[in-house]
Amino acid sequence: MKQKIMSGMRPTGKLHLGHYLGVIDNWVKLQDEYDCYFSVADWHALTTKYDKTESLKQDTIDVVTDWLACGIDPDKATIYVQSLVPETAELHIYLSMITPQNWIERDPTLKDMAKILKSKEGMASQINYGLMGYPVLMTADILTFNADLVPVGIDQVAHVELTRDIVRRFNNIYNTDFFVEPQPKLNNCSLICGLDGNKMGKSFHNDIKISDSAEVTAKKVMTAITDRSRMRKDDPGHPDECEVAFKYWKIFGGVNNGVNEVETVRCECEKGLRGCADCKRQLGAKINERMAEIRERRAYYEEHPELVEKIIKEGSQKARAEAQKVLSKVRELVKMY
Ligand code: TRP
Ligand code: SF4
Repeated sequence: MKQKIMSGMRPTGKLHLGHYLGVIDNWVKLQDEYDCYFSVADWHALTTKYDKTESLKQDTIDVVTDWLACGIDPDKATIYVQSLVPETAELHIYLSMITPQNWIERDPTLKDMAKILKSKEGMASQINYGLMGYPVLMTADILTFNADLVPVGIDQVAHVELTRDIVRRFNNIYNTDFFVEPQPKLNNCSLICGLDGNKMGKSFHNDIKISDSAEVTAKKVMTAITDRSRMRKDDPGHPDECEVAFKYWKIFGGVNNGVNEVETVRCECEKGLRGCADCKRQLGAKINERMAEIRERRAYYEEHPELVEKIIKEGSQKARAEAQKVLSKVRELVKMY
């Protein structure tokens, strides 16, 4: 039997290259080897955005469309929407009964989120019961499929540790070895920075979206920060101080006809043989080459929204069928009616 993988993402709308390179491309590789469940965590979105739900549905569709475009294959992996698998909510209740409050209170991510929320004005500044339960809900996601491995970013590892603690406690209390202790599987850390050199993020307006056209992508790449000390295009450049453009080259450059493109860029830049504008024009073309197939698939799914909806519905049904098996076992173990 294949090992099981479960991971999720909040429905934040159209995704960017940071999501693609850091997370989704990783998932695409995993789907061949593992039995994968990928969830759009719409309940998790509600923990902080319960009062901004107008775009929740479209954001969910956009996320799934980007996953499909990047190569998540619904014939290999199970793509589903969290709230379409209500068994997870039921499991969340059982788990919340056995999770000590101080285990939640020491969660570092939650502490950070609380700090951010507190700094904001208005309604969202309070910490609701649902937000406190966020790590237990994530545990419920993982245990809904009794997953072996959980691909996550470094910021989520503490949550998987909590999941392991809750598993031990559940197994202990109900005298079973039913739940396996899942292992975190760290995502690629070759995180791409934003066009301005900061972390790539939607709210920082420094991202390149998976859904951006070739033209928009090329235009955005022209705004990438380069070696700031360089005045004229024949000045010798310093690739290692080229804050964004050269870093992108290292991600997207390859070997072409035996020539290492990154080394060529480095050499020509250092000798003053390469202007930054030309360099970024080439870089834009390079990124577009890599994105061409993804864009094509995305255009196809965008033209067939009924197909995306079908994939979401069928994936969620499949996930639910698995979840029901786990929950009937859990009900039995907890000795519910
Ligand atoms: N909490 C994760 C995040 O904010 C998303 C998530 C929800 C998740 N459920 C999950 C990740 C289950 C891994 C497993 O990024
Ligand atoms: Fe960066 Fe290219 Fe300009 Fe060199 S030529 S500083 S690598 S953008």
